[in-house]
Amino acid sequence: MTQKPETPLVELRNISIAFGGIKAVDHVTVDLHAGEVVGLLGHNGAGKSTLIKCLSGAYKADSGEVLIDGKKVEINNPRDARALNIETIYQTLALADNLDAASNLFLGREIITAAGFVDDAKMEAETRKIMHRLNPNFKKFNVPVSALSGGQRQSVAIARAVYFNARILIMDEPTAALGPHETQMVAELIEELKKQGLGIFLIEHDIHNVMKLCDRASVMKNGQLVGTVNVNEVTDEDILSMIILGKQPDKAA
Ligand SMILES: Nc1ncnc2c1ncn2[C@@H]1O[C@H](COP(=O)(O)OP(=O)(O)O)[C@@H](O)[C@H]1O
Ligand SMILES: [Mg+2]
Repeated sequence: MTQKPETPLVELRNISIAFGGIKAVDHVTVDLHAGEVVGLLGHNGAGKSTLIKCLSGAYKADSGEVLIDGKKVEINNPRDARALNIETIYQTLALADNLDAASNLFLGREIITAAGFVDDAKMEAETRKIMHRLNPNFKKFNVPVSALSGGQRQSVAIARAVYFNARILIMDEPTAALGPHETQMVAELIEELKKQGLGIFLIEHDIHNVMKLCDRASVMKNGQLVGTVNVNEVTDEDILSMIILGKQPDKAA
């Protein structure tokens, strides 16, 4: 990358979007740097999903700007987002249960041999390569993903995004349905993605996970941004009070 290091990977600038009379997102500005995890926090209905859907292409903001590497971009649909290397890991993972990891990784984007056949061997080899990098303990290459644990499924979905050159990942509560061991696995995965320079917007309710996984946290309430803090400069209580009271603690950045 030739950009200046201080240029954010993503800026959502002054984003507003209303449904009928309801201001779901009201002049919100957040940013995300490469190699960083920014948590998006707030009660149900705060506007987190709506905000992030303006980046994933599911919604179009009424006003405001999206900048990637400091340049204004138009995101009118999920295909535009994907072309900008923005990938979303949905809470209900969009995996085909009856297919194995490799078939899921390449679903809709299969590798084809010169003779025009789907190249299963090549796809499995590529899947093994990327899973080795992201989740070295993963061994279940030849079973349907329905036989995988929640964390393992998560790692297949993330591998798919990374394989197809995601630079910006949107994760909506990736650990919500996972036990402690699996949550730890996803935490390690996120650590690895950061090392590889991805930027991650993470919608997360569990304050413990926020403190552990996020570099910064942007808190929303009633469609507005309460503030953004560096996680290592505040306590859990500071962040909880931002969520509940809608005010920044004194020492917040
Ligand atoms: N498609 C929609 N149509 C109408 N209202 C919506 C729609 N999506 C979200 N909203 C409203 O926008 C507000 C923010 O919702 P949402 O972004 O889902 O919040 P969060 O993700 O923080 O729980 C809520 O009042 C919600 O009811
Ligand atoms: Mg939501």
